[in-house]
Amino acid sequence: MDAQALQTEAQSAISRAQTLSELEAVRVRYLGRKSELKLALREVRDRETGMTLNAIRTAVEEALEARERELEAAAVQLDTDFDPTLPGERIERGSLHLITQLRRRIEDIFVGMGYEVYDGREIETVWHNYDALNQPEAHPSRDPQDTFYVDGDTLLRTHTSPSQIRAMMQQEPPIYLVSLGRTYRRDALDATHTPVFHQVEALAVDRNITLGDLRGTMETFANAVFGGEREVRMRTSYFPFTEPSVEFDVTCYLCDGSGCAVCKHSGWIEMGGAGEVDPNVFVAVGYDPEEWTGFAFGLGIDRIALLRHGLPDLRLFWENDIRFLEQF
Ligand code: DAH
Repeated sequence: MDAQALQTEAQSAISRAQTLSELEAVRVRYLGRKSELKLALREVRDRETGMTLNAIRTAVEEALEARERELEAAAVQLDTDFDPTLPGERIERGSLHLITQLRRRIEDIFVGMGYEVYDGREIETVWHNYDALNQPEAHPSRDPQDTFYVDGDTLLRTHTSPSQIRAMMQQEPPIYLVSLGRTYRRDALDATHTPVFHQVEALAVDRNITLGDLRGTMETFANAVFGGEREVRMRTSYFPFTEPSVEFDVTCYLCDGSGCAVCKHSGWIEMGGAGEVDPNVFVAVGYDPEEWTGFAFGLGIDRIALLRHGLPDLRLFWENDIRFLEQF
């Protein structure tokens, strides 16, 4: 073994090492248990060879240590480019849109009552949107002035009620479902109208369903959305797909019914429409109206969000202004 050559080779490998782990590999190669030097040291018989080899070992060890200190110093040097006293770069955390949050909250409330969440269609047939819902041929809402028609038989649904029809045609009673999503009407954009808006539809079909069941369900729903002990009131109304039909209000969540700006000093907030499912609707989906009864209701999600948060204008939901969105 050429001891001198080995030392030169080791020292140049040491100075070429750029990282601590490269340096460790060099140490193993030249000073490890199976290195040439260690094996030679084990074979040593005479004093002179022993001294030479030990001198080389010491030199290599020192070179390793020196290089290790250099590399460590360089690493610290790199670290000093990092100033821990500077403020960090904040990674903005997004959030779900207020309407999406409310939509999920409503779904949770109904799932808690044993309801299924049913996904309807946004592009509907005229039959599902109107005819099967007992809407007379001459009903003004069919007017192309009010409805986005795709063609003569197809439209963007004007309400979530056609989900009732689709679900009933796919399933047998009993049915307890909610269906939430976008609805479309050709309304001019202003503070209280957007051509795209959101509704929640509820449908219960079972034996002996009464208006009392409807009322209890709406109360549970209103308490969960607005909090506290809400009262529900029904006013007679008309919808083609319910008989009898009602519109329902809840006591104002802000003033508890005593009257304030939110409820326009009436103490009540209008929620939506509801009623007992009209027998003609059951006939349209092939259910026996003598056997089955049901209730349904529908209401606008956007308006609830507006009221719930005291917001002045529906258009805020569509502007995608982060300063507005990030508050929720
Ligand atoms: N679809 C009605 C609308 O958009 C709301 C509605 C009223 C839904 C009565 C219902 C109901 O399920 O029973 O104005």
